[in-house]
Amino acid sequence: MPTSLVVGANRGLGLEICRQLLQRGERVIAVCRTPNPELARRGATMISEVDVTNPEHVRRLAGEVKSIQLDWLLHNAGLLTAESLAELDFDRMLNQYQVNALGPLRVVHALLGNLSAGAKIGIVSSRVGSLGDNASGGNYGYRMSKAAVNMAGVNLAHDLRARGIAVLLLHPGLVATDMTAGRGIQPAVAARQLIEQMDELCMQRSGAFWHAEGYPLPW
Ligand SMILES: NC(=O)c1ccc[n+]([C@@H]2O[C@H](COP(=O)([O-])OP(=O)(O)OC[C@H]3O[C@@H](n4cnc5c(N)ncnc54)[C@H](OP(=O)(O)O)[C@@H]3O)[C@@H](O)[C@H]2O)c1
Repeated sequence: MPTSLVVGANRGLGLEICRQLLQRGERVIAVCRTPNPELARRGATMISEVDVTNPEHVRRLAGEVKSIQLDWLLHNAGLLTAESLAELDFDRMLNQYQVNALGPLRVVHALLGNLSAGAKIGIVSSRVGSLGDNASGGNYGYRMSKAAVNMAGVNLAHDLRARGIAVLLLHPGLVATDMTAGRGIQPAVAARQLIEQMDELCMQRSGAFWHAEGYPLPW
């Protein structure tokens, strides 16, 4: 039975990804800050009180999954606090960098021992982090942090290639979650598409930035 570890599992897109993986009969390790009783009821292993910005929390997570081989490591946790040029808040921008850019790298680094040849890493980034696709400005902290995680993902793809571990940066589309105040496609649709991309991920595609609908995005 494949084992997936999903970070940011308690609500929004992450919750829906966990639901669908469990529905396929797979083993899910659901990592979050606040536990979601529904996931535990459905059979997920819940590891809670993990803030991805906190080195101690991530070390504890690594300790709790120490002996488990992961087929998928899906880092979905993310934070959007919109800063315009007129209202730049550098502390909030730094916080988004901690969550969106350093968080995935911190978690992947801590769990490298759980990944072997054939394992797949999915990092939920955003099209908003694309330099080439930026047609509107704004959202300084979010855009910059997602651009940074794209670089981390490409670096990981290079560094893990020899070990046979593939890395994919994913844009889920505009999804109706708390982050978008309910605007966008249903999380169930986005989760299904994102899981499809993970299913299809192979070493040839490692290091790509992909729309969950199934096409590459500009950096
Ligand atoms: N929704 C969209 O349209 C859209 C578009 C493009 C990309 N994305 C990306 O998709 C991912 C999921 O977004 P969503 O729409 O599902 O957002 P959401 O409903 O706001 O959920 C965000 C998730 O991230 C977790 N999280 C935030 N900060 C964290 C931290 N410091 N440590 C651990 N977990 C943390 C949250 O946990 P808590 O409940 O503890 O806060 C929650 O589980 C994010 O990476 C987001 O940037 C979303």
